[in-house]
Amino acid sequence: MVDFESVTKQYPDGTVAVDKLNLTIEKGKIVVLIGPSGCGKTTTLKMVNRLEEPSRGVIRMGGQNILKMNPVDLRRNIGYVIQDTGLMPHLTVTENIATVPNLLRWKKERVKARVEELLHMAGLDPKLYRYRLPAQMSGGQRQRIGVLRALAAEPEVVLMDEPFGALDPITRDRLQGELKEIQNTLQRTIIFVTHDIDEALKLGDQIVLMRDGRVEQIGSPEDLQQNPANAFVESFIGEDRLAQITPEAGIDALVEDAPLILKASSGPEKALERMERVGRETAQVVGEDGLWKGMVWLNDIKNAERYGKPIASTYRTKRKLRIEDARIREAATLLAASSEPIPVVDASGRLRGIVTDAGFARMTIARLTRGRHQKESA
Ligand SMILES: Nc1ncnc2c1ncn2[C@@H]1O[C@H](COP(=O)(O)OP(=O)(O)OP(=O)(O)O)[C@@H](O)[C@H]1O
Ligand SMILES: [Mg+2]
Repeated sequence: MVDFESVTKQYPDGTVAVDKLNLTIEKGKIVVLIGPSGCGKTTTLKMVNRLEEPSRGVIRMGGQNILKMNPVDLRRNIGYVIQDTGLMPHLTVTENIATVPNLLRWKKERVKARVEELLHMAGLDPKLYRYRLPAQMSGGQRQRIGVLRALAAEPEVVLMDEPFGALDPITRDRLQGELKEIQNTLQRTIIFVTHDIDEALKLGDQIVLMRDGRVEQIGSPEDLQQNPANAFVESFIGEDRLAQITPEAGIDALVEDAPLILKASSGPEKALERMERVGRETAQVVGEDGLWKGMVWLNDIKNAERYGKPIASTYRTKRKLRIEDARIREAATLLAASSEPIPVVDASGRLRGIVTDAGFARMTIARLTRGRHQKESA
């Protein structure tokens, strides 16, 4: 729907805000631009509706170079929401929402019906809110009106620049939920800017993590969490993921690589030798097919060797977690019962790693010290 081809934006003072950006935004998706302050998110958005123009490169919308389009027509097809809503203080809710439909000279009845429809969609009773002025509403309500105004003329593309940035966390959470619902029905193409990773992970079909005007990684929320492209992505995602760690959260953040993996085909002697060499009491065994067979204990293998039995006779398979559905609470319960590592497998039976009490402790410490750091710097 929107394509950036090697787009660079250099401001007159020499600042390179966006540096050879390549990005394809698919129709009907929410694409979140995220990154540290000054990384070029707002500049990227503004180039889409030509509030700024690229210094080099091409931006296409629906295949057409936007510089060749009439800017007024272009903007009518693009909704824009900004942090402080940009509502006109002297215009009523209806007049604000109807800004673009009025410009497009929609018939009065059509405008009225559209405004009512949108207010209903946002859970605002038209009878109550239709004639209010922005000053007569709460911040969350004003922000809803800002979103509705952007959607009013059914634009193909909606640009949102930290639309919920100024709201309290509860209102913010609610509006995020509403936006997702609206998007499920309307299927617009939304480019959403935030610097809140929780918001990005919650809303984005695709996340574009930027730094210094460049893209560090593009991918689904899962891609960025599970396969961060580099240390910057990892720390950006990681730090904020700590805030999400609750008993009901998934165990992804806890899973570490298993330090010792044995092949199912190795005999007890070889297994013993390796375990003793690396000083491990336990190991994970994986078959030729890549599937997890079980966890083994040093003492069990010593016995197996003594009695000439295969290591398969010592597999422990009961105590494990499945990465797709295990909660942190379960991991904690298992570790409370025994401090031995917990194998983690996926739905296809492959070993994904282990959860250990040491890892759990590290995460808790990171989280607690991070909280302290935030308080100190506040
Ligand atoms: N009109 C301008 N003239 C010169 N430099 C500018 C201008 N607007 C933005 N910049 C610079 O371009 C860079 C990118 O700015 P931009 O506003 O796109 O960042 P951002 O990612 O939206 O940041 P934030 O999260 O703080 O909103 C910054 O270094 C900024 O100072
Ligand atoms: Mg910005």
